[in-house]
Amino acid sequence: FARKPFITGNWKLNPSTKDEAVALATGIADSVTADSPGDIGLFVPSPYLETVQKIAGDKFVVGAECVTPETAGAFTGGVSPSMIKSMGIEWALAGHSERRTINKESDDYINSQCKMLIESDMNVVLCIGETLEEFEKGLVDAVCEVQLKKGLAGVSSEEMKQVTIAYEPVWAIGTGKVATPEIAQDVHSICRGILGEMYGEQVAEDTRILYGGSVSPDSVDGLMEKPDIDGTLVGGASLDATSFGRIINFV
Ligand code: G3H
Repeated sequence: FARKPFITGNWKLNPSTKDEAVALATGIADSVTADSPGDIGLFVPSPYLETVQKIAGDKFVVGAECVTPETAGAFTGGVSPSMIKSMGIEWALAGHSERRTINKESDDYINSQCKMLIESDMNVVLCIGETLEEFEKGLVDAVCEVQLKKGLAGVSSEEMKQVTIAYEPVWAIGTGKVATPEIAQDVHSICRGILGEMYGEQVAEDTRILYGGSVSPDSVDGLMEKPDIDGTLVGGASLDATSFGRIINFV
């Protein structure tokens, strides 16, 4: 691999109780072995961060699914980067399509999240991806370019060490319709080209680009064979320790 693989899970609004979270995280930790081929990360609901972090030990990194890009103040319900950093958490997602759609998070807001996480010495996984309508209209490249350029506005080449990209076509999320390895590879290669224009060849070569959207034990091996697919962001299958364990130990 040109870049060390990074297999990540995103629990979204799951599981319903802390006891279930403990059982699931324990099952996932048990499936990580010295032979697991990549780095592993798990993005979990904020109330479970500390508990899952303790279970993870040095087997996987734990991150928040979103942050409020503010330091303090009147933002009811907010969770700031400094709060989770002070709990020992060093990772967060930004720009997930569910946050873009349900919570109406704009590219500017997502950019603030990225910058504040970076300023807080944390790492961010910036999620991008087109809708089915945009896919059918042939707008994939344009959508990825806008989301990358706006999401990373003001982020320096040096700071790109703290950034991972996740390409998640909205039409593949939670639908069971995984992008073919060929489609995903094409888009990842285009995204790497855009990063090259923005930051130069070296940063583009060093930045990990993950694929997300209905990744399963059946599809992971084919996706991970592609040269520009550096890992996965797994939703549904990360809620089953056996399935996610197989994805972690892809071949
Ligand atoms: O963040 C994860 C993605 O939204 C993918 O979810 O694997 O359930 O399709 P999924």
